[in-house]
Amino acid sequence: MKKAVIMAVAIGAAFVLGSTSPRAQAPSPTVHPTDDGLALTPPMGWYPWNTFGQDPQNEKLIKEIVDALVAGGMKEAGYSYVGPDEGICFYRGKDGLLATNLDRYPSGLRGLGDYIHNKGLKYALYTDAGTRTCSKAMPGTKGHEDEDMRRFAEWRADYIKIDWCNTEGMDIVKTYARLRDAQHAAGRPIVHSLCSWGDGEPWKWAAPVGHLWRTTEDICGPGRADWEHAIKIALFNQKLYPWAGPGHWNDPDMLIAGMPGLTEAQNRSFFSLWSMMAAPLMAGNDLRDMPDTTIKILTNPEAIAVNQDPLGAQGHIVRMAGEVSVWAGKPLFDGSQAVLVFNHGPTQAEAAIRILDVGLPARSEFYVRDLWQHATSKGSAGPDGTFSVTVGPQDVRFLRVSRSSEFQLPPVIVADTYLLSFEAPESSPQTLAKTLTLKNKGTSDLPPWKVRPGLPSWLTVTVAKNGRTQTVANRVSTAGLRKGLYHAVVRLDNVEPVSGRPMSAAYYDVDLDVGNAGIGRMR
Ligand code: GLA
Repeated sequence: MKKAVIMAVAIGAAFVLGSTSPRAQAPSPTVHPTDDGLALTPPMGWYPWNTFGQDPQNEKLIKEIVDALVAGGMKEAGYSYVGPDEGICFYRGKDGLLATNLDRYPSGLRGLGDYIHNKGLKYALYTDAGTRTCSKAMPGTKGHEDEDMRRFAEWRADYIKIDWCNTEGMDIVKTYARLRDAQHAAGRPIVHSLCSWGDGEPWKWAAPVGHLWRTTEDICGPGRADWEHAIKIALFNQKLYPWAGPGHWNDPDMLIAGMPGLTEAQNRSFFSLWSMMAAPLMAGNDLRDMPDTTIKILTNPEAIAVNQDPLGAQGHIVRMAGEVSVWAGKPLFDGSQAVLVFNHGPTQAEAAIRILDVGLPARSEFYVRDLWQHATSKGSAGPDGTFSVTVGPQDVRFLRVSRSSEFQLPPVIVADTYLLSFEAPESSPQTLAKTLTLKNKGTSDLPPWKVRPGLPSWLTVTVAKNGRTQTVANRVSTAGLRKGLYHAVVRLDNVEPVSGRPMSAAYYDVDLDVGNAGIGRMR
């Protein structure tokens, strides 16, 4: 492991702990989201709402999107959470439990989750804290918090967005804390995404409750990207930078990049703004139908590296001249700093970047990496302590500056699968083996993954490291097991060796079916 990585992550820990978030008002957490190893960097994935709204959502659509996400290179770029939003996917049965709407999701919500996990992706679902979801087409969790969170765990969700419609008279802090506790009690690691559109100012109290919280109203109505509205949202969200950090993120809503109506420059600008704000990158366009220019923008590894930086700082505006804004305040793990110049105006503009704003000493020489042109050049500040860049209309210059000419990419983990299924007869005891690989798509190294203790006696897991790829070997022994279905969640941690703080975490499901007991499995 390179020393620079160790040092910088340790600094990052200090940075986050030193932030000014007023946690005192929040309910005391059972497990702090920052320490549960989930969402240590902003979640990346895809949700249907921005393009599809409610009605076109069904199993076929979600599976096609999953396939397109993999085929188009988005999985390799780090996008992982996928699933239906408010897609009329479940109802409450007479027994009070949630059940899949099998007309729309014939494999059942568990079956859809298995499909997603088999592809090495994570499963996202949606619900509401009130009596009904926003369109009222689906039940909310009010009064059913425990059984619903157990059901989402049984369906094997990894991420749950919890909306705030139909919640008249409910206490927002207590409600979301109650849902967090129900989720923890259900026993599955799940990213908890609060969606109150900024109501109740969640940035002030939600860090111990969830991993991300919406800060504003919806970015667009289904199928209707709205550029000016998106910029308004960015300008509001950027002010909330003190409250963001590893495990707890401001969420200015899903991406509109790649939706009809935006120019290439606007797509680039939008993606840079969301990357700079350490915002969750939940794509919202139709992935089945993307021009190369959109794919290039959504998968730009250098922009994603800024978003996924392990220090987790949220960049914000440090200077504004007319319609040109300079964004900084985003130190990166390798000692470089991100800087974004955004020109909201209709004509080309010149912008002066103060080197003090980007953490460089006055009169120093430095290197500038252009994250869209993928080129490094040497820079130096003039006598006034600034250097200038030209930026096109509605466009950005997205840069990293450093005293070193090397710009590293932080770890981005991509798995070949998140579900291992074993089948064995009951009569003759067997030992079966399967592997799973975790590739690090960054240019910096990660220490070996460590397996969390607590595995069942029938399962042994070992990790072998080969460069930036790590192979997780799973051995199942059925000796002494009766006919039945067995399940384990294997959790892997990657900790920074000096501070012991989590750097990254992963988990996957192992299913073992002894004696063909799986017939009639839950849907
Ligand atoms: C709210 C959310 C949206 C979407 C819809 C579904 O408006 O903010 O992101 O989930 O509900 O109805």
